[in-house]
Amino acid sequence: MNLTILAIESSCDETSASVLKNSNVLSNVISSQLFHKEYGGIVPELASRAHIKSIDTIVSKAFSGAKTDKSEVNLVAATQGPGLIGSLLVGYNYARSFSIAMRKPFAAINHIESHLFSCFIGNEEVEFPFIALVVSGGHTILFHVKGYDDHSVLGKTLDDAAGEAFDKGAKMLGLEYPGGPLIDELAKTGNENYHKFPVSSLKDSIYDFSFSGIKTSLLYFLRKEFGAGAAGTLPLNDICASYQRAVVSSLVGKTMLAAKELGITSIAVSGGVSANSKLRSEFMKFTNEGYEIYFPQKIYSTDNAAMIGYTAYLKYRNSPVKRTGKDLFENAFARFEY
Ligand code: KG4
Ligand code: ZN
Repeated sequence: MNLTILAIESSCDETSASVLKNSNVLSNVISSQLFHKEYGGIVPELASRAHIKSIDTIVSKAFSGAKTDKSEVNLVAATQGPGLIGSLLVGYNYARSFSIAMRKPFAAINHIESHLFSCFIGNEEVEFPFIALVVSGGHTILFHVKGYDDHSVLGKTLDDAAGEAFDKGAKMLGLEYPGGPLIDELAKTGNENYHKFPVSSLKDSIYDFSFSGIKTSLLYFLRKEFGAGAAGTLPLNDICASYQRAVVSSLVGKTMLAAKELGITSIAVSGGVSANSKLRSEFMKFTNEGYEIYFPQKIYSTDNAAMIGYTAYLKYRNSPVKRTGKDLFENAFARFEY
């Protein structure tokens, strides 16, 4: 089978388009809306408007980067959800219109599921089963993945996502949005034993996460130790390292607990927070115990269209819809709501 895929992702503040030849990414253009920094978070209405302005240019760049003409496309894919509704509508309708105009099949792809498969981009086959931890700005979910269309949720965050814990913690420390990468950078030269931030272990739901308490504990710690208005004088590197350690130990601890209890030795960690260097190094320690740990390449950690196209490729090839000889229609694969 030879598929040329156009994929579009616009669920949040990145407009992205990618062209793939089967599982190979030929181009992956990402335009990040940096202006949200001014507001300390994403403004949904401004995000949708910016997607509208840039989408045509981004798609053209994806075609020229891939040295491919739009007439060669034989599968179109877009993020169906979850995400900001106004932002999703822009990319989804653009891709859907393209598929109707060109009379090509269309795959509506679940954003979380595409993060999960992003660890394997470029591979023709994915080996099952594996445990998947998807950690982004909006989600923290632990999956047991048994097949291309077969997975179950083991646990998820009961309040904030891990990325949110990083971003909100960073805001309290006077750092810009998004704070995750900045905490990661500052923590590299900090002492992680400087302060012990507690993370709830949720003994009654062992695979669920909770990150709202750590934010509060950072707030009280800052107030007690440094008082109001101390932003310029904080031992930032040490605080970042200690805070990061607490978030990471909860993510790694629960994922490895699930792997051990289910007897699964492959673990895939994806989503924006999977770019975190401490998270990566802590997980990699388990390779000494016979575990295989998969991360996406850093460029595929945060939101991108290549992961949407790759997931569409896997689904198209392995889909029961296709096996019955029918075209792929919207919603065919968007069965999973998280
Ligand atoms: O997957 P993503 O690009 O968008 C969502 O679907 O949410 O994830 C963005 C999140 C943000 O919270 C950002 O702070 C976090 O990923 N992030 C990181 C790092 N890089 C991005 N968090 C910690 N360390 C990083 N290096
Ligand atoms: Zn994402």
